Amino acid sequence: MENKAYGLLKGKKGIIFGALEERSIAWAIAEKVHAEGGEFILSNAPVAKRVGTLDKLAEQTGSDIIWADATSDEEIAALYDGVKETYGKVDFIVHAIGMGLNVRKKKPYEALNYNWYAKTLDISAISLHRIVSGGLAKDAIADNASIVTLSYIGAQRIFSAYSEMGDAKALLESIVRSFGYRLGKKGIRINSLSQAPTRTVAGSGIGGFDAMFEFADKISPLGNPDAQSCADYTVSLLSDLTRMVTMQNLFHDGGFSSMGISDDLIAELAKIMEGQGAS
Ligand SMILES: NC(=O)c1ccc[n+]([C@@H]2O[C@H](COP(=O)([O-])OP(=O)(O)OC[C@H]3O[C@@H](n4cnc5c(N)ncnc54)[C@H](O)[C@@H]3O)[C@@H](O)[C@H]2O)c1
Repeated sequence: MENKAYGLLKGKKGIIFGALEERSIAWAIAEKVHAEGGEFILSNAPVAKRVGTLDKLAEQTGSDIIWADATSDEEIAALYDGVKETYGKVDFIVHAIGMGLNVRKKKPYEALNYNWYAKTLDISAISLHRIVSGGLAKDAIADNASIVTLSYIGAQRIFSAYSEMGDAKALLESIVRSFGYRLGKKGIRINSLSQAPTRTVAGSGIGGFDAMFEFADKISPLGNPDAQSCADYTVSLLSDLTRMVTMQNLFHDGGFSSMGISDDLIAELAKIMEGQGAS
């Protein structure tokens, strides 16, 4: 598809959390926001200095970086002090932060380590609350701002390998609604974009990710959307074109969430069953 820009975010200033390296969804979002005329501060956990390549994105988009652990109220407060110095108030926030500690360490759902579970919920869901709450406390979020977070359909349905992250996404989406009501009084909107499986560091940390990816791709009429198309949808949600949309969980999944089974998958299953019958 032709890479067109429309100046949809001209004059808007914001913060983008969660770009780690080129495959990150937030990386693609930052590139598209930049192409649409938006300016932003990039943020990630201090540990990402070692494991990621955020400097490269900052240089490419002419952005500053403020390192902050999104589970630390102090670091978030310091981040907003920096943001206020640079921009005054922000017009948009992108929260693309997630990590499942039990998932990474292959602890089954039936035997979660609760310290890790609490950390998973804190990083992947409560961090959104901390970021919004911290921004309000510093009066750093402009009226009519737009906030977008990234979710997954594991919040509504069971994808066995997604485990504790399903709980984290359910909490995340609930925070979107709870805050949406309160922020609406200031004209601020907040939505979660529920993205299909996407090949990133967080994505491939999930056991059986390739199977989940293929399954979704075979069922979705449009196939799995990549990080670039997710970035396009995010831009539309940050723009004035969607100014009356709030408190929604918006599926960006090529139609997956409305499907049961597809001809493609039936054909695959039939092949497997034939194979079993022949043996
Ligand atoms: N990849 C997928 O298949 C997929 C599908 C649906 C939703 N999502 C969601 O998209 C978002 C972005 O994930 P991604 O797939 O681009 O992977 P990613 O690993 O590139 O991004 C996750 C980010 O979270 C950051 N992070 C972790 N702990 C943090 C902390 N304490 N403070 C601040 N930042 C912290 C990481 O440094 C990283 O930049 C996540 O919320 C993820 O759950 C991903």
